[in-house]
Amino acid sequence: MNFLELAQTRYTTKAYRPQQIPEDKIQDLKEILRLTPSSINSQPWQFVFVGDEATKEQFARVSYINEQRVNEASHLVVFLAHNNDTAFETHLHRATSEIGYGFYQSIQKPRGTAFVQEWIYRQVYIALGFFLSACAAMGIDSTPMEGIITEDYDRLLKIEGYKTLFAVAIGYRSDDDRNQPSQRPKTRLPLAEVVRDFSL
Ligand SMILES: Cc1cc2nc3c(=O)[nH]c(=O)nc-3n(C[C@H](O)[C@H](O)[C@H](O)COP(=O)(O)O)c2cc1C
Repeated sequence: MNFLELAQTRYTTKAYRPQQIPEDKIQDLKEILRLTPSSINSQPWQFVFVGDEATKEQFARVSYINEQRVNEASHLVVFLAHNNDTAFETHLHRATSEIGYGFYQSIQKPRGTAFVQEWIYRQVYIALGFFLSACAAMGIDSTPMEGIITEDYDRLLKIEGYKTLFAVAIGYRSDDDRNQPSQRPKTRLPLAEVVRDFSL
């Protein structure tokens, strides 16, 4: 399948069948996340994989309407962002180049703490797009989820200096999932409304 076909056929899975993702594919997904691009290579994230049933259930309980799909899915992947000012600068020093660090100090940091925090969050969302596409390419179904209690995720994870933004359930769809494109065609705004050509 080419990328357009993957975009046409991937979808947000609402029901999973009981089938585990093989460990080698999980390892590939971890490496793909590590390779996610980010502004000035800042990599301000942590990605946490939960495969153990009992642990997954704890997260499912604090996942609102997503509870059942978190329980059914093979794995839950939690996406966290750096949220500690001081530690972030130390982290950035290791992650980026000298030019990147200079850009941060002279352009981004003077825009203020709130701007920097939002900028960090945006980087983690790049990883989401990258991950959903990778899953589709590997024949793995997925559910991106902002509908979770992020504070409770943080309470369970206890990862100092990082904050949960969202999570993704991954696995293999149930035949009964009524959200799959063969049963519910994908809906998007018309191309002409959201994409345009431009020249001065
Ligand atoms: C950041 C983000 C958060 C989302 N949160 C949820 C969620 O909590 N639960 C859910 O069932 N779907 C969630 N979705 C799925 C969207 O509703 C879905 O992507 C959109 O309706 C388009 O449908 P499609 O993914 O099937 O093409 C989320 C999607 C994104 C990108």
